[in-house]
Amino acid sequence: MSEKKKVLMICLGNICRSPIAEAVFDDYIKKNGLSDKWEVESAALIGYHTGKSPDNRAITTLKEKGISDYSHAARPITKEDFKKFDWIFGMDEDNIDELKRKSPKDGTAKIELLGKYDPEGDIIIRDPYYDSGREGFVKAFEQCKRSVAAFLKENK
Ligand code: 4NP
Repeated sequence: MSEKKKVLMICLGNICRSPIAEAVFDDYIKKNGLSDKWEVESAALIGYHTGKSPDNRAITTLKEKGISDYSHAARPITKEDFKKFDWIFGMDEDNIDELKRKSPKDGTAKIELLGKYDPEGDIIIRDPYYDSGREGFVKAFEQCKRSVAAFLKENK
């Protein structure tokens, strides 16, 4: 069997958007028999939340949408990640700028906005961390779901 293709989901803190994106990707590959072809992780651009579980609003949203087996400990991205992963997905333009700045010269990962694949064209997955409610998390989930499905259909 050939080596699995590897995807890394990135956001600023790795406690809101990228864990949702990772959980959605993992759920999709499991449900569609693609786990022998793909693997997914997530990480942060800042080390501030290292070791923390995702924000409760992210966990609640995932559970509400039928994903109840997800757990994660936040970690910062490393230089090696830029060589290990085939794709590194950012959630917004600031993420992409920071990823390009951090990428070593010999980095091979393709750096893209996850929302670039959204068939509804909602390309920026906005940071919901400072919101008072959970709406932004639900929206991020739906954007991730549409984008992940479209990405995996395009890259069979
Ligand atoms: P995330 O949300 O990047 O989607 O995980 C954030 C989490 C924490 C912070 C910012 C955004 N923060 O500044 O601590």
